[in-house]
Amino acid sequence: MISPDRFAALWRSLLPLGRQPDGGYRRFSWSATDLACREWFVEEALDRDLVVDGDGNGNLFAWWGDPSTGNAVLTGSHLDSVPSGGAYDGPLGVVSGLLAIDVLRERGSAPTRPIGVAVFTEEEGSRFGVACLGSRLLTGALDPERAARLVDRDGVTLAEAMHAAGVDPAGLGADARRMAQLGTFVELHIEQGRALADLDAPVGVARAIWPHGRWRLDFTGEANHAGTTRMADRHDPMLTFAHTVLAANKEARLRGAHATVGRAAVTPNATNAIPSRVSAWLDARAPDEAGLAALVEAVRVRARERAGRDGTEAAMVEESVSPEVELDKELRDAIAASLGGAPVLESGAGHDAGVLAGHVVTAMLFVRNPTGISHAPAEQATDVDCAAGVNALARVLWELACR
Ligand code: GLV
Ligand code: MN
Ligand code: MN
Repeated sequence: MISPDRFAALWRSLLPLGRQPDGGYRRFSWSATDLACREWFVEEALDRDLVVDGDGNGNLFAWWGDPSTGNAVLTGSHLDSVPSGGAYDGPLGVVSGLLAIDVLRERGSAPTRPIGVAVFTEEEGSRFGVACLGSRLLTGALDPERAARLVDRDGVTLAEAMHAAGVDPAGLGADARRMAQLGTFVELHIEQGRALADLDAPVGVARAIWPHGRWRLDFTGEANHAGTTRMADRHDPMLTFAHTVLAANKEARLRGAHATVGRAAVTPNATNAIPSRVSAWLDARAPDEAGLAALVEAVRVRARERAGRDGTEAAMVEESVSPEVELDKELRDAIAASLGGAPVLESGAGHDAGVLAGHVVTAMLFVRNPTGISHAPAEQATDVDCAAGVNALARVLWELACR
């Protein structure tokens, strides 16, 4: 068993990397901070005599046992963050995977299947815009040529960023050999809501991940003077944008879905000028795929209608969409039972587990988050609950690979 203090010791070694003055984290893929996080992972893995290898997409794997024997049990998560994100989203799963291996070894367990800890590249899509970038590439869900051309906010392509980090982007793409080695994936993650806090339970199991996606909205109008242009003469894309944000919120509420516009860019972004363009990103999620499609279509129609009234144009382009994923029922039921009847939860957040689930038997564990807040500095979990999460993960890995 891992004690809270032992969890905290390893946890604290990662905490300074990428911490911002507001207490949040900025760990964008292939940045200097990301490279430092990767180095931290490799050192921790080598300290444990795990064998580290990566794929051409920057995903890292640390193995206890030889994965080429097949039917491997993989755990882990991601180390990248959203801008000003919390400390736990992603890293908790990586730290817990390493510590769960310590627990099994200290118990003298001898795995009959290889056990690995993974770090997936850019789960958040914060730099290059596509969520679960590394796992999508690995599984063949994303065309490597399209991926190589993705650009960050400074116009740097993924290929250039990898090259600058000393990694050859020619290796991007599906890795059938590696996928064939995997039998099971179990991702541990901070809960991104308050269900476990309300149920007074430290650890839960995922049932399903909501379908979700990102759409880019471009509202274009006529740039003009803020003081001299009569109100009736304006073609102001800011109005179309503002109306569309309100409409998305309303349409989501009507459907029991979620719609968020958390990122926008105004051109030219001047106080005394009507903008020529507002670009914004819609994040939409719903309990089922029909609901998501209906929500997105409703937002498209409302944006177009309003553009007609404003004399502007509204364009909406899909950037990435993830289908609804139900995690393996047999495995989640077995995990819930072996953890003494752990609660089974839905996830409105996306995860690499959702991508892997289309290829290998996949499960997720959640650790209680007392604030319920995520993708923000206030994201929290106690050391006691995190240690409970590690011990639960160790138990799951033992059941899968050591029994
Ligand atoms: C990732 O955390 C997402 O759900 O966007
Ligand atoms: Mn996240
Ligand atoms: Mn995450």
